[in-house]
Amino acid sequence: MEEQKGEGGEGPLEPRDWEETRGAEQQETHDAPREQHEHDYQWHTGVKREHGGEDAVEFIDVVKAFGRNRVLNGLNLGLPDGQISMILGPSGTGKSVCIKHMVGLLYPDEGDVLVHGESVPDMADDELFEMRKKFGVLFQDGALFGSMNVFDNTAFPLRQHTDKGEDEIREIVMRRLGEVGLGGAVDKMPNELSGGMRKRAGFARALVLDPDIVLFDEPDSGLDPVRTALLCELIMEVHEENGGAYCVITHDIMSARRVADYIAILWKGRIVESGPASELFNSDNQFVRQFLSGEAQGPLGME
Ligand SMILES: Nc1ncnc2c1ncn2[C@@H]1O[C@H](COP(=O)(O)OP(=O)(O)O)[C@@H](O)[C@H]1O
Ligand SMILES: [Mg+2]
Repeated sequence: MEEQKGEGGEGPLEPRDWEETRGAEQQETHDAPREQHEHDYQWHTGVKREHGGEDAVEFIDVVKAFGRNRVLNGLNLGLPDGQISMILGPSGTGKSVCIKHMVGLLYPDEGDVLVHGESVPDMADDELFEMRKKFGVLFQDGALFGSMNVFDNTAFPLRQHTDKGEDEIREIVMRRLGEVGLGGAVDKMPNELSGGMRKRAGFARALVLDPDIVLFDEPDSGLDPVRTALLCELIMEVHEENGGAYCVITHDIMSARRVADYIAILWKGRIVESGPASELFNSDNQFVRQFLSGEAQGPLGME
């Protein structure tokens, strides 16, 4: 498998993210020891509860190591189409690494990642290019271009990836910015925006190509609880309006309570349990219960 396949830089992803990943990939080696600490997995029932639909994205036995750091260790997960899923896990558990596998910015050492049933690692460059157009990604800080105003940031994917004229672009951009409540901020530069506004601008930009799948990497990070609640509302409203598979990655249980239809808990490179939110909140798995209630007492200790 060729690791640098993604290198055209033409997907609906930001050049900055490509640079970051490309540099980081060079540190990678493939000699990670296959250490299995079965104790770590005593709560991983691997139960994959039915969601009654098709999976938009699937991870099958995915292993990914960076040097000796085995981040994903037999990950099995399906993200349902038409629903808002959440991948929940503490910081550093590999949530962003998961997102990068979905869009072909990273490739698994073992196992497979499928998008709409097609293997991402098996895709040729042109297929990868097409596949990436299905995705809208909201990166952690909104990842706006500092030298462009909100309008131009939002218009960027349309100018880059379509041959639409400026009139049509304006219509789409204004509709999406209106949707996220930034209709009045089109001329602002990113450094004039609050953290919440930057995220909303990133959200509008993630939507302009009408993606089938929208990924949110910790949309709640750096926001106060009220703004987090408002952003969660917005994600639900926009999903209601547009449909598709939304996948929100977070360590914040409150956000999960608010927006998730489907929840997967990631710990030690595997899913502890995944399923409809209502079922997971009633799971009798002690780890899941502790994690979702945020209690200090339970199998999940400090490490
Ligand atoms: N490109 C990379 N090269 C080397 N190590 C990486 C790379 N990307 C992530 N990691 C490591 O993988 C682990 C999980 O990272 P990440 O997915 O960013 O965690 P999370 O998003 O859950 O906070 C961390 O230990 C991180 O250092
Ligand atoms: Mg992350």
